Amino acid sequence: MTEAEVKMLEEKTARMEKEASAIEEELNKLAAGDVAYTGDQQLDKLLTENEKLKHRLAILENAIKVEQSGAAGKPAKKEPKKRPTLITDINSVEGTICIIDELKNVFEAAITSAYPDLEDPPIALTLSGNNPKFGDYQCNSAMAISQLLKAKNVKTNPREVANNILNKTPTSPLIERMEVAGAGFLNIYINKAFAEHVLTCILRFGVKPPPVKRDRVIVDFSSPNIAKEMHVGHLRSTIIGESICRVLEFLNHDVLRLNHLGDWGTQFGMLIAHLQDKFPNFKTESPPISDLQAFYKESKKRFDEDEEFKKRAYACVVKLQSGQPDYIAAWNLICDVSRKEFQKVYDRLEIKIIPRGESFYQSRMDSIVKELKQKGLLEEDEGRWIMWGDEKHEGIPLTVIKSDGGYTYDTSDMATIKQRVEEEKGDRFIYVTDAGQYTHFATIDACARRAGILKNDQKLEHVGFGVVLGEDKKKFKTRSGDTVKLIDLLDEGLKRALDKLKEKGRDQVLTPEELKRAQEAVAYGCIKYADLSHNRINDYVFSFDKMLDDRGNTAVYLLYSLTRIRSIARNAQVSLDELLAHAEKNGFKMTHEAEWKLGKVLLRFPEVIMKVAGDLYLHTLCEYLFEISSVFTEFYDKCYCIEKDKEGKIIKIFYERLMLCEITAKVMEKCFDILGIKTVSKM
Ligand code: ARG
Repeated sequence: MTEAEVKMLEEKTARMEKEASAIEEELNKLAAGDVAYTGDQQLDKLLTENEKLKHRLAILENAIKVEQSGAAGKPAKKEPKKRPTLITDINSVEGTICIIDELKNVFEAAITSAYPDLEDPPIALTLSGNNPKFGDYQCNSAMAISQLLKAKNVKTNPREVANNILNKTPTSPLIERMEVAGAGFLNIYINKAFAEHVLTCILRFGVKPPPVKRDRVIVDFSSPNIAKEMHVGHLRSTIIGESICRVLEFLNHDVLRLNHLGDWGTQFGMLIAHLQDKFPNFKTESPPISDLQAFYKESKKRFDEDEEFKKRAYACVVKLQSGQPDYIAAWNLICDVSRKEFQKVYDRLEIKIIPRGESFYQSRMDSIVKELKQKGLLEEDEGRWIMWGDEKHEGIPLTVIKSDGGYTYDTSDMATIKQRVEEEKGDRFIYVTDAGQYTHFATIDACARRAGILKNDQKLEHVGFGVVLGEDKKKFKTRSGDTVKLIDLLDEGLKRALDKLKEKGRDQVLTPEELKRAQEAVAYGCIKYADLSHNRINDYVFSFDKMLDDRGNTAVYLLYSLTRIRSIARNAQVSLDELLAHAEKNGFKMTHEAEWKLGKVLLRFPEVIMKVAGDLYLHTLCEYLFEISSVFTEFYDKCYCIEKDKEGKIIKIFYERLMLCEITAKVMEKCFDILGIKTVSKM
């Protein structure tokens, strides 16, 4: 219950108390014979009315007591949890299934049936490590449950608990067998027939997402500032944000990709004033501003040095904010120059994003300020109006109104979150910016909650990332110490990628078009992958040499391994249709140990995707991609896909292994696609 709702209840109670006492008074009068008794009917009516009111009053008073004791929200008695239906038939699974989630369901059923009296017993499931001795997955609930039982004076030990769970585990087509090991671990072995079925589905239908509830997700990313440099920090936000959108879109969520451009604020006053002086005909002739940064610097210099100019700049802000057409036109011209520059970067990297800058929230800032004031949430502080995230005044407050009456970044983000909750009806609110803005977003979240904009489990998710460093481990700069222009950086990537391909003699074997495609895939792919493959929260060192290395966890290595897999099928001259027909007729079986190992890695794709969609750490997906590639190499070393005679003629085709190659390629391609990296069939 919110504070406002409690207030309402209290008022209602007071009103009813009044009514009840009025009736009581009436009754007393009647009893005392102060008023004429007009018959039984009236008395009866009053009496029942009085009873009813007393009853409702008691309910309301109780509700208030519960609320104030902090027990609200917790239902007195726990509703029995609805248990998900378990998979009983392999054929009901059409492709993608999140194995660990299904195992959680299976073991939840087992544990609740083994220990029905335990409230909320822990369901701990993990992937077993690399050692096949520990099974494929493990259920590690026994230790914790044994502790819980001991606390209830039940004598037991983890192994006994594990055995109990094992005995109560319902049969599942996913599980081949289980065993209790060590101190009470439950090792789970995945059923091969089930795996073969799921992998065949991938071969037939492609890589499909696991079914999830469709959410509306707002992703705020890239978001550079007009007239200022779009720097490597924005590049990180752009790359990470794009991938986040792709993961969520793959899961069929309704994703709104927003570019929260810094396109509003007092800096436009000086830019417009400078524009008027430099290009007096700007209304009829488009001003040839090629370097907006230089233009910004010039106007800033004048602003700092020239009092007259400063005054005019302020006047321009007022006129712009009151919406005077000439000023809006000038502002638009300036924004256009920047937007065109940004678009060049987006086009190269194939980023889809909708521009919706701070200016969009202008009128909404007025209303949010009004609302916060009315709710009594703003406090005056040396001429400005601030808002604290919590009543205890911990942390840093937002500055909602500056002492000159203007609004701030804080004000615009309060208006923004309200718009996204109430107008966009979002379920998730994601903001991708450098880690330095963590406190800002934590405070926006807290204030939005205090203001009743964010409710219950709704939350603002700040996806923070570290800074980009140069190879000298210092802030990424050009040799002369300037900030690196993103377009120049992309150009250098192109050049380096071409050098690399030439070094490997690829220009000799590829057509010019193929070479160009490979060059772009490598250049942009390596920049994106280098960013995404590191835990985003850490700083990372930008090094073309490292990212273009064809050994190790790099885009180049992975793109190469994909083309190699693709070439296996090409060399075998077996088409996908033939593979499918073969699978239809003979089924798909994994017999060699290395095949089975690869198959199990491929089965984990939905699990990895669900994890990434939850915590928004993309490096997990990169690690998985690298793992596929390594396990594939192991498989390919041990298992022939075709056999040739001395003349090089194909004498035997291992169809099942070619199917595994095809499935591997499909899963890898999907990973690349989600990372926003283009693949090529030849490079
Ligand atoms: N323009 C900001 C910057 O360059 C990022 C904006 C992020 N989005 C937001 N809603 N505050 O740092």
